[in-house]
Amino acid sequence: MTDKTQQIELLRFTTAGSVDDGKSTLIGRMLYDSKSIFEDQMEAVERASENRGDEEVDLALLTDGLRAEREQKITIDVAYRYFATPKRKFIIADTPGHIQYTRNMVTGASTAELAIILIDARKGVLTQSKRHGFLATLLRIPHLVVAINKMDLVDYAQDVYEQIVQDYTEFAHLLNVQDVTFIPVSALRGDNVVEKSEKMPWYDGPTLLHHLENVNVGASLNNVDFRYPVQYVLRPNQNFRGYAGQIASGRIAKGEEVVILPSGLSSKVESVVTSDGELDAANVGDSIVLTLEDEIDISRGDMIVRTNNLPQKSNRVDATLCWMSEEPMKPRGQYWVQHTTRLVSGFISELNYKIDVDTMHREDAESLKLNEIGRIQLTTTQPLYYDRYQINRATGSFILIDPATNNTVAAGMIRGKSRNVDQLREGEVDTSPSRPKSSNVVWEQEGISLAQREERNGHKAAVLWFTGLSGSGKSTIAKKLEQRLFADGVHTTYLDGDNLRHGLNGDLGFSSADRQENIRRASELAKLSFAHGNVTLACFISPFTADRRFARGLVPDGRFLEIYVKCDLDVVKRRDTKGFYAKAIAGEIADFTGISSPYEEPENAELVVETDIQSVDEIVEQILAALYERGILPNK
Ligand code: ADX
Repeated sequence: MTDKTQQIELLRFTTAGSVDDGKSTLIGRMLYDSKSIFEDQMEAVERASENRGDEEVDLALLTDGLRAEREQKITIDVAYRYFATPKRKFIIADTPGHIQYTRNMVTGASTAELAIILIDARKGVLTQSKRHGFLATLLRIPHLVVAINKMDLVDYAQDVYEQIVQDYTEFAHLLNVQDVTFIPVSALRGDNVVEKSEKMPWYDGPTLLHHLENVNVGASLNNVDFRYPVQYVLRPNQNFRGYAGQIASGRIAKGEEVVILPSGLSSKVESVVTSDGELDAANVGDSIVLTLEDEIDISRGDMIVRTNNLPQKSNRVDATLCWMSEEPMKPRGQYWVQHTTRLVSGFISELNYKIDVDTMHREDAESLKLNEIGRIQLTTTQPLYYDRYQINRATGSFILIDPATNNTVAAGMIRGKSRNVDQLREGEVDTSPSRPKSSNVVWEQEGISLAQREERNGHKAAVLWFTGLSGSGKSTIAKKLEQRLFADGVHTTYLDGDNLRHGLNGDLGFSSADRQENIRRASELAKLSFAHGNVTLACFISPFTADRRFARGLVPDGRFLEIYVKCDLDVVKRRDTKGFYAKAIAGEIADFTGISSPYEEPENAELVVETDIQSVDEIVEQILAALYERGILPNK
């Protein structure tokens, strides 16, 4: 194992359960059995249990005791508890207080990669347990563990466990859950927490700790899009000006060009200083101080990003909102919006619906109450610089603060720019993000992360989406480009409309609906290929802007290059390499793009190449240059 992989052997997780499900005991049991606590703490807890006349050591005292200690000193939303085993380090995001578990989960979840949902074996699957599962998926926590606790109180009965597994699995089918693991435990007796239980020989899965030690981590972090919300400006003397903060996502290196938002001014990174001293580069999660080459007026709440990888900008966003206050939502009321380190004023301009967490159906609603989840349109007085939550959990989330009380009242996940949600069908199942999926499927997590693949490949993954009329030269350019990339050892995939229509898409014709489906499948393929680290060359007429936008949305910002292969219609008609234009004009082929079906020209293509003016070689060079410039290919 290299040092690099050892570094990522850290798992952040969060726990959720209803009151009395045994959350504190479970954490206590884990700390105790994995010997992660100090002797004196243990003795104190043993004494306290004895004093109370308890037969057994009350492990909840361990967590609650520590908590009480902590609460005297500080009041914060989330506290982090650390422990380690020889295999891995763990950080549990934990929140003081017994009642507001939903809130705990939301605030603790922004970096969590796993959520433990506790279910009391005697009570079975409650609405609350479903809510936690739903939230975990909304929060895009990739791994779920359903710990079925208090098995000792149901005589370790297999059928009780199986019933809960069945009930929860049924519910999980409604969600976009990627990975769910069920474990029967007794936190109190220590069964299957750290030690394997002898009472449940029928269970042959891992213990909870074993699972936590082995679950795949790191794959869900955004290592691509550099986002650095400035927390403080350090100005110890005239000669030094540094910007302190934590890297919300991506990576930054000395010498890289950056843009400061909202001013739009640019500069270069002069130094990256961490607690380990000055470094060449720093990554997501690192707390650093950046200095820039130019003197620029930057303040708290500004965001530093890389020049070629900007976030979205809008003052109206579409979001999923989880209400976390006893005080219900005030429709159109004014709230503070805390987004990264920035605080702006805003209001909920629309509440589109709330979601019934038992059925996942949409329901009309006037307002949201404690723990309710809904879809809203948020309007802010100043624009937000955001990414969709699906792509970036840090810049895709926000909280709402009641200006009257200063309390956090809601947490939101941005789905994109504001849109007209009324067009969505009533009663439709809401799984975020909205891509179709079969019933009875769960997402199988890739065993190797994109970052690992890219490191091995020595280049970044990307999707080069060639769009243009039939005969404009998309495939000719892409094939020539692919040969060049191949010769340089770049890992590539070549996807082509004509070829896909020979098998996978052989059932589709050329109506708008069929083309949409054609591009949807092609986009999903491109995404898969991208996730495997390949520079993916996709050649499709893809005449509709909306379909191309869909393709773009499936890969991270900065990694999708739309290349408009432009050619005058008269020229392609004259070329007519396949003889299709003549036939289309004669009416022998229906819905032919450019003749009897429209082509919507791209307005925001990263590159426009003109095959009626430029040579193929020239265009290939132009695209290669763009790949170097964007850091997709390493500079030679
Ligand atoms: S797309 O519009 O759905 O993106 P795609 O790129 O997959 O189209 O396929 C286009 C190819 O199908 C063309 O290059 C051409 O060879 C062939 N073709 C057959 N009929 C049509 C048609 N009606 N319109 C466009 N292309 C067609």
